[in-house]
Amino acid sequence: MEIIGGNRALRGEIRVPGDKSISHRSIILGSIAEGRTEIYNFLNSEDTIATIDCFRKMGVSIEVEDDKVVVEGRGLKGLNSPGSILACKNSGTTMRLMSGILVGQDFSTTLVGDDSLNNRPMNRIITPLRKMGGNIEGLDNEYPPLKISPVQKLNSIYYEMPVASAQVKSAILLASLFADGKTIVKEKALSRDHTERMLKTFGVDIYKSNELIYLNPPSELRGRNLYIPGDFSSASFFIVAALILEGSQIVIKDVGLNETRIGLIDILKKMGGNIEISNVNTLNNEPVGDILVKYSKLKGIDIKGDEIGTFIDEVPILAVASAFAEGITAIRNASELKYKESDRIKVMTNEMRKMGVAIEELKDGMIIQGNSSLKSAKLESHNDHRIAMALSIAALKANGTSYLSNHECINISFPTFFDILLENIV
Ligand code: S3P
Repeated sequence: MEIIGGNRALRGEIRVPGDKSISHRSIILGSIAEGRTEIYNFLNSEDTIATIDCFRKMGVSIEVEDDKVVVEGRGLKGLNSPGSILACKNSGTTMRLMSGILVGQDFSTTLVGDDSLNNRPMNRIITPLRKMGGNIEGLDNEYPPLKISPVQKLNSIYYEMPVASAQVKSAILLASLFADGKTIVKEKALSRDHTERMLKTFGVDIYKSNELIYLNPPSELRGRNLYIPGDFSSASFFIVAALILEGSQIVIKDVGLNETRIGLIDILKKMGGNIEISNVNTLNNEPVGDILVKYSKLKGIDIKGDEIGTFIDEVPILAVASAFAEGITAIRNASELKYKESDRIKVMTNEMRKMGVAIEELKDGMIIQGNSSLKSAKLESHNDHRIAMALSIAALKANGTSYLSNHECINISFPTFFDILLENIV
C-alpha cells in the first residue's frame, strides 16, 4: 500500500474500536459463565474472531452482529470436546488464556498457531499450569502445538512470576477457577489487569493486596452485559500522529484508561506532549474517557525500569515519536518485545533505518536519535499489525511516497485503521 508523506495534519473527533484484550476476555468468561452475556463495542477483528471460533467449536453459541456479541454461556464444566484442533491463528492471548481454561476440562485438546505464534514462547504458561497439576505439553517444552489432556484435579498454587506478562498471569488465574483452593500470584512487575477486573464483574472472589493477587475458586460465574472501552493501544497511533504532524488537534472518544495500560501518556507528557484527559467514567470496572491531543514539540527521554509493562505494546509507535523529538531517546528493559508477533526491537530498528533514522538496536531496547527528517522507503510490516500501523504513521512524515507491504495484518487488531486515518487527515 502507498502512503503519501508531506505536510499533513490530523484533525477531528474519532473513536477507535473496542479493546482487544478485553474483547478476548469477554468471550472466554462469557463462555464459561452461567446464562447469557451481551457484549457491546466488541472488537470484531481477526484475533478476537479466532477466540470466538475456538469456543464455538467447543459448543458455545456466539452470535456476532457488527460490534454486538451475544454469548450463551455453558458453565465452568459445560464445554464440549472440539473434536479436532483449536486454531489460535496469530493470537497469543487466545492460546495462553484458553490453555488456563482447558487444563480444567474433561477432554483433550490441541492448540495450534500460525507461523508467528508457533515461534512464541509457551514454557512460561506450561510451567505454572503443570505446577497446578495440569497435563500440558509443547514442542520442546516451549512451542505450539500445545497438547492438553484431562487430569483428576487441579491444585491451587502460590506462584511468583519470573516474567512480567498479563497472559501468563491470566492463564494461571483462569486455571485456578477449576482448582481446589485459594491461588496466589505474585507479579514480577505491573501488567494489564483486565482479567482480574472482569472476573470480579462476573462475581468471582478475587482481590489484590501488597503485590499479591488472591483468587478463591467460585462455584459458578454469572453471565453479564458488558461494554468494551475503546482500545488505548489502537488510540496510541493517533495520539502520536497528532503530536508529530504540525497543526494537528484530535479528540479520541471513550478510550479505555486502565492505569496498567496507559503508561505511554506519562511518557509522552514527559517528552512535552500536549495531552488532556476528560469525561472519565467507570464501566464494568474499567475506566473510560476522552483524550485530547495537540501537535507538540517533543524532546527525547531516557526510559528504563518496570514501568515498561504499562506501555509494552506501544513501544513501536513510541519509537516513531522519538524520531521527531529533540535529542536522544533511550528505551531499555524492553526485551519482552522480542517475543511479540515479531521481534519488534529488530524490526523497528531495521525499518526506521530505511527511512533515514539513526537508531541503534540494543539487547533490551533501542536508542533513537531525534530530529530526523525522514525519507520515503519500501517498508515491510513483517505481518505484525503494530509494526504496520507504527510505520504508516512514520511514513506520513516522510518526504515522498512510501510503500508498505503486507499492510493487511492491521486486521488482527484494528481493521478500520486506514479508514479512520484517511477520514481525519487534512
Ligand atoms: C496481552 C498481554 C500482553 C500484550 C498483548 C496482549 C493480553 O502480552 O503484549 O498484546 O491480552 O493479556 P504479554 O502477556 O506477553 O506481556
